[in-house]
Amino acid sequence: MDSVLSLITIFLLLIGSSGFNKNDFPKDFAFGSAISAYQWEGAANEDGRKPSIWDTFLHSRNQDNGDTACDGYHKYKEDVQLMVETGLPALRFSISWSRLIPNGRGLVNPKGLQFYNNFIHQLVIHGIEPHVTLFHYDLPQSLEDEYGGWRSRRIIKDFTAYVDVCFREFGNNVKFWNTINEANVFTIGGYNDGNSAPGRCSLPGKSCLSGNSSTEPYIVAHNLLLAHASASRLYKKKYKDIQGGSVGFSMFTIGFNASTSSKDDELAVQRARDFYMGWMFEPLIFGDYPEEMKRIVGSRLPVFTEEESEQVKGSADFLGINQYFGVVVSNNKLKPCPSRNTDFKSDVGVSLTFLSLSEYDASLWAMKDVLEYIKQRYGNPPIYILENGTPMKRDLQLQLKDTKRVEYLNAYIGAVLKAVRNGSDTRGYFVWSFMDLFEILSGYEFSFGMYYVNFSDPHLKRSPKLSAQWYSAFLKGNNTTF
Ligand code: NOJ
Repeated sequence: MDSVLSLITIFLLLIGSSGFNKNDFPKDFAFGSAISAYQWEGAANEDGRKPSIWDTFLHSRNQDNGDTACDGYHKYKEDVQLMVETGLPALRFSISWSRLIPNGRGLVNPKGLQFYNNFIHQLVIHGIEPHVTLFHYDLPQSLEDEYGGWRSRRIIKDFTAYVDVCFREFGNNVKFWNTINEANVFTIGGYNDGNSAPGRCSLPGKSCLSGNSSTEPYIVAHNLLLAHASASRLYKKKYKDIQGGSVGFSMFTIGFNASTSSKDDELAVQRARDFYMGWMFEPLIFGDYPEEMKRIVGSRLPVFTEEESEQVKGSADFLGINQYFGVVVSNNKLKPCPSRNTDFKSDVGVSLTFLSLSEYDASLWAMKDVLEYIKQRYGNPPIYILENGTPMKRDLQLQLKDTKRVEYLNAYIGAVLKAVRNGSDTRGYFVWSFMDLFEILSGYEFSFGMYYVNFSDPHLKRSPKLSAQWYSAFLKGNNTTF
């Protein structure tokens, strides 16, 4: 009797929802993992690199910083070796503008150029497809000082000249370009909340480096879109025929669930979608901001000229999404009041709380929500999930048994498979992050890595966690049943 029961249990496990493998995905589906320049490279003052706004912001606050990070600048060959052992088919990484063109415009730094050529070469000879992000929060400080960086339209010309160098120098080996990483997070964190570079705030009284205007986040977002569109135009005109690659744009996305079925909460969900995602995705797909956003933000929202609208519309060959979690949304819209200060958050007018479902259910639900919404609302554009993962306190990861992360990744990848089977044009999935990195809001305290990095060791030793072993087995075709 016992053996019959065991057989039934094994059978149920095998046909259970987690019983799938990589071969269930379309053949050309890109599986990979991700890192970014400032969070991995280190060597902040070496070989001609100059500060970016991220260096300045962290140094001014005496916080942990990426001066050394994982020292990927010197250890890139070792890291590519780990990627090979893991069986990684693709790597998403970013180029540091300040390393390549230290003053933001003008002379190209030969050592910076050499580094990226060497790194890309290592990836390519080992069969790892590079997916390159061109801007991952780290604007050269000189452009911020000279004209206010992304607050000025002058950035469009400089960004276009910078990406021209990247397309020209690396485009023979790089077919996937993401112009801007998490445009919404950069804009809200850097210009509304002031908790990330360049540390500007919309409301007075917050402890920010500077800033004090609820218009800035919208201006910056507008310039990011125009700069992206300009980069995409340049690629199509000068490189696409020869290099055959594609150019996308990425956002931090969130699954949204109304806290009640009241009309107000349902409208709040739509507002959250419009402000946190539609803000940039709607212009890229339809050529304009969401109607509700235009109504609420009014004259503080920049207006696209007809020509700009045409340029932005259709300028993304794919939408990049960084998808981590879902939230419960309730209405928090106050009646307009001329005397009250406003900022992006009060414009949205919603309260967000983390879903209280189990990690597994929440993951499945949030991924499904985002992919379904994009499919329905935007006519099923190509999507790359450029980041997905979960943070854990680093001291808990010393034993390298990050079981929670394995369960999380398993659930998310399963949800992606379901979405693909339901017709979503999702073409790739990247685990954030390949190894423990310097983290944007938590320094070295929490990390997302599949490889543990011992930051106290002079050699910054890397060791595989359970998640690295699990992902490796999955990439090699094993069933994910965990
Ligand atoms: C968003 C960012 O792109 C990346 O820099 C950050 O480390 C992760 N998500 C985790 O917060």
